[in-house]
Amino acid sequence: MNILITGGAGFIGSHVVRHFVNTYPSYHIYNLDKLTYAGNLQNLKTIENAANYTFLKGDILDEQFLMAVFIKYKFDGVIHLAAESHVDRSITDPLSFVKTNVLGTVNLLNVAKNTWQSDFSNKRFYHISTDEVYGSLGETGLFTETTAYDPNSPYSASKASSDHFVRAYGETYQLPFVISNCSNNYGPNHFPEKLIPLFINNIINNKALPVYGDGNYTRDWLYVIDHAIAIDLVFHKGKNKATYNIGGFNEWKNIDLVKLLCQLMDKKLGRTQGSSEKLITYVKDRPGHDLRYAIDANKIRTELGWTPTVTFEQGLAKTIDWYFDNQDWLDNVISKEYLNYYQKQYNL
Ligand code: NAD
Ligand code: DAU
Repeated sequence: MNILITGGAGFIGSHVVRHFVNTYPSYHIYNLDKLTYAGNLQNLKTIENAANYTFLKGDILDEQFLMAVFIKYKFDGVIHLAAESHVDRSITDPLSFVKTNVLGTVNLLNVAKNTWQSDFSNKRFYHISTDEVYGSLGETGLFTETTAYDPNSPYSASKASSDHFVRAYGETYQLPFVISNCSNNYGPNHFPEKLIPLFINNIINNKALPVYGDGNYTRDWLYVIDHAIAIDLVFHKGKNKATYNIGGFNEWKNIDLVKLLCQLMDKKLGRTQGSSEKLITYVKDRPGHDLRYAIDANKIRTELGWTPTVTFEQGLAKTIDWYFDNQDWLDNVISKEYLNYYQKQYNL
């Protein structure tokens, strides 16, 4: 099989690419990525010379480029992760999210349809989406696959829109597709604009930890490698036109998670317990901040036999260790662009 993975130089994409390259030596994996600020080929060092791997630098908005690679490499399947992914950036620059997440996805769908349409058999377009499309939960309840879409941020609205287009291509043109909607991932190679890696980096550097609002927002955390394993299962065994919710069965209020992280980091750094907690700084809330996300992952568990393999305690320890062992990775991503973004976002 020739498989196209888009966004494979990003956080989740790089774990998915590595997983497929190592698990399926008989497949050829093509990683198409524009290398935006979030894309980093350093994430793929361990497999960059593998015989069954090819990197294609390109933009999912570039129709001619997409046509050329679809014709040349005759992809059997697409796993589409390329996206603008950070909620705070979508609040300051919504149009970039519409361009990449909506127009880019439609462009990719069109090219897949046009190059595959003589024979859709054994083809599959797998769209990777988020639980944020369902909007916000109150104190109770879980998102299921039939929860109505109710996005609140420009990011989640753009992902919801892309999900609708994928489904529409399935209904209108019979393009074979599958979608999964996952909760918050964490782990190695996570860009330090997101909560966990941002706070690990700030604790190392004794910088303020900017907690939005009162910190009583809840997220459901999943170790990124467990997401990659779920993606493998859905790609190979998921039903055509189905949606699968993926989550960690692991809800944490932000403030409790931050306090746990502070304790683990104090231990790792040999600092007195309590010293990192002093860095917690309550800052202005995120506009439209969703109160709580929590996934009901029973469908993927019962239908495909997937469950998370890594506990939160194990995953967080592995993640902290990775950032300590890969300080050069952190140093490289903390570029001028990152510092400009940081200054504008936090002014701390
Ligand atoms: P990321 O921001 O780390 O990576 C995105 C990748 O897409 C980068 O490598 C970037 O260079 C590439 N890209 C961006 N625009 C592109 C374009 N126009 N053409 C080609 N490549 C482009 O994102 P992530 O956190 O790894 O998320 C990957 C996917 O998973 C996204 O679709 C996101 O919506 C979804 N998702 C993420 C999470 C999470 O917790 N991070 C949870 C659920 C779903
Ligand atoms: O739920 C899946 C989604 O999870 C993905 O679709 C997104 O791509 C991914 O970025 C993530 O979105 P969140 O907005 O939940 O993640 P983030 O790490 O930005 O924030 C997690 C929580 O922490 C959220 O309630 C906001 C809060 N937060 C975040 C930052 C960056 C803070 O309190 N302070 C911060 O500085």
